[in-house]
Amino acid sequence: MPLKKLVAGNWKMHGLSSDLDEVRAIAAAAGEYPSVDVALCVPAILIERAARAVPGFAIGGQDVHHAEKGAHTGCISALMLLDAGASLTIVGHSERREGQRERDQEVKAKAEAALSVGLNVILCVGESLDVREHGGAVDTVGAQLDGSLPAAFDSKAELAIAYEPIWAIGTGKIPTSAEIAEMHLAIRAKLGERYGADGANARILYGGSVKASNAGEIFGIADVDGALVGGASLKAADFIPIVAAAAAVEG
Ligand code: PGA
Repeated sequence: MPLKKLVAGNWKMHGLSSDLDEVRAIAAAAGEYPSVDVALCVPAILIERAARAVPGFAIGGQDVHHAEKGAHTGCISALMLLDAGASLTIVGHSERREGQRERDQEVKAKAEAALSVGLNVILCVGESLDVREHGGAVDTVGAQLDGSLPAAFDSKAELAIAYEPIWAIGTGKIPTSAEIAEMHLAIRAKLGERYGADGANARILYGGSVKASNAGEIFGIADVDGALVGGASLKAADFIPIVAAAAAVEG
């Protein structure tokens, strides 16, 4: 049985009060595709207003601190995200692994903190262009998973993995279908090794330059259970066709 597809938007550092109308438009249109789960991960300070604007629609954060609370200036805990109305969070995005020097161990702790309060997690992994060109992509992503997968997860919250080749993010370049298939199969195998039968329930998303014109082909690849979408998630006009493509593959 294929898993229900998840199409999650990552607004990154985009979004002001004036963009709440776009959140409303996306949530309303997504409601037309009940065979697809749709979520929007917005800047932290927009979460509460977005969640109030679209009750019942999944609003998420883009990062979370691993500690429950304490002296961590500028950081946000899992409970705070939940309290603000988030139902999920991204962890380990390559822009944080690079920009904030986040290491696998920290990503793992963040994922565990989020899952422990019932937040669904999208955990990102992906290789650089140099690694891809030298043939080390599968090993590199495997090592990232070894270091950053949570020790365990149960039915309280969902764990999804997003395979996001760094060189495909925001560049318009995407791996070949065969490369995506090879990586997703390898990730599926890792999940099985780590979690046994439960590993089969974790959705594996592809991310990096997903848009309406390539979404159908990407969703047709084995073990692609959805997408994490950056630039094309900012406007309903760009994002909803991607949701529609996922629904079309669902049949
Ligand atoms: P993009 O970003 O769709 O703009 O390439 C994807 C991501 O970074 O999650």
